[in-house]
Amino acid sequence: MRKTAINTEVVDGVTFELRPLVRNATNPGWVCLRKTPRFVQRYRALAPELQGCRMVEVGVDQGGGTSFFLKLFKPQRLLAIELSSEPVPKLMNFLAEHDKDNCVNVCWGVDQADTVEVPRLVDDMFGGETLDIVVDDASHLLNPTTTTFELLFPRLRRGGLYVIEDWSSEHLMDARIAAEIASFPEKFQAQKQTSVGNADYEMPMSFLICQLLIASAHNAEWITDIRVGKGICEIRRGAADIEPGTPIADYLGGLGRWMLNC
Ligand SMILES: C[S@@+](CC[C@H](N)C(=O)[O-])C[C@H]1O[C@@H](n2cnc3c(N)ncnc32)[C@H](O)[C@@H]1O
Repeated sequence: MRKTAINTEVVDGVTFELRPLVRNATNPGWVCLRKTPRFVQRYRALAPELQGCRMVEVGVDQGGGTSFFLKLFKPQRLLAIELSSEPVPKLMNFLAEHDKDNCVNVCWGVDQADTVEVPRLVDDMFGGETLDIVVDDASHLLNPTTTTFELLFPRLRRGGLYVIEDWSSEHLMDARIAAEIASFPEKFQAQKQTSVGNADYEMPMSFLICQLLIASAHNAEWITDIRVGKGICEIRRGAADIEPGTPIADYLGGLGRWMLNC
């Protein structure tokens, strides 16, 4: 049997096992982190500027990311939001041991697209203070992801960072389907299936990344910089005031709205 290599990262004495597609570490003493080595290297590179940050993490699952950010960034405060209303005992035990100052607040049963609850939680945790970083690794769907961006991007400080993880997952899936179809042409030809063109196909989350790219061209005072890596997109907040809840269409300008038909 072929053995798969185990990727681990030690952060501040805690061993994280990098298993993007599963929920459990192979060793009970380790924390399972659902992130690829590429993501981890990127966050490590960002760590010096984010020490003691004010952070929001959207999408908690088993809490590997929450634990990782706690150890790596040593946040002043970290608000973590999760749709599931079931607290994860493993995470709560980890926080009891490693978060002695109660910097982390995990809010279960919160939809990232809740335009009342999300701002309320941010107000409760941070008052009028700006955020340094938001990481959205939640629904990976266009509409909720856009709503969260509209709510939270304006609340970043100047130069603050908004990260959207796994923005390309639908394209990876599409490529996989295309490869499958190519390897069994007779089977799929008979059914006249294609990987795209299905009437039920939803606009993928990558459409938001296209909008943000155009937004950065239209108004550098709102978005100074956008960095699109494999699966991870980082958007830097500019200096101008932006009203929380401003619709994404307002970021684009007339030409952008015309180009993207929105
Ligand atoms: C990929 S997992 C998060 C992994 C986690 N960030 C980590 O690094 O370990 C995605 C999580 O987002 C949650 N989620 C999905 N839709 C959501 C929504 N609308 N609002 C908030 N959380 C959501 C899911 O329940 C799931 O736990």
